[in-house]
Amino acid sequence: MGGFTVPKYRYPAQFAGGERELLDRIGEVLLRGGYVLGEEVAEFERRLAGYLGAAHTVGVNSGTDALILTLDALGIGPGDEVITVANSFHATAQAIARRGATPVYVDCRDDDFLMDLDLLPAAFTERTRAVILVHMFGKAADVPRAARLARDAGVTLVEDCAQAIGARSHGVRVGTASAAGCWSFAPSKNLAAAGDAGAGQRPRRPARRPAPASPA
Ligand SMILES: Cc1ncc(COP(=O)(O)O)c(C=O)c1O
Repeated sequence: MGGFTVPKYRYPAQFAGGERELLDRIGEVLLRGGYVLGEEVAEFERRLAGYLGAAHTVGVNSGTDALILTLDALGIGPGDEVITVANSFHATAQAIARRGATPVYVDCRDDDFLMDLDLLPAAFTERTRAVILVHMFGKAADVPRAARLARDAGVTLVEDCAQAIGARSHGVRVGTASAAGCWSFAPSKNLAAAGDAGAGQRPRRPARRPAPASPA
């Protein structure tokens, strides 16, 4: 057998043909000194929102922080449960734990390895505050169905889109039809930065489970 190997990562290959323009633009920013929240970031946020069909997006330093900040903005903390899947990068559950909340796992389907939404209703408890639906391997989970189930249970739907930028669920780009979408631009992702980077779409409003009816 010959020595044919497929390299695991070939990050520089994505720049093929565009290296000169890219280096010129990076050099221009470096020499201008606009390193923090400059016009380039604002332009990226605008163009990302336009591509996704989102009202707005916010650039952050990683997909992990997009998840943590989203849960923070939703007021999720100790005593709360957040439903997700075990079949994800550990950052999904880690973000929940980082907020002091408890991750609750719903199993995945054996055909596409995405959350089995048939099993979701049984996972809701009085303590559930949110569901983080994870779109894995570029595949979109069924967002409208997950949103319906979450709404019926009185909890917020968040999407972890770290591995699926641009994927569509029922024709709509993932991350734009729920309370918040979270994206990663780590070097191994579909849209890769030269280092860690991420984005979030801001939650519209925090959800609270409806208060139990007071005894008559
Ligand atoms: C599904 C999933 N969620 C979250 C993350 C976290 O993103 P980051 O590495 O940018 O923190 C990743 C990527 O590593 C991921 O694959």
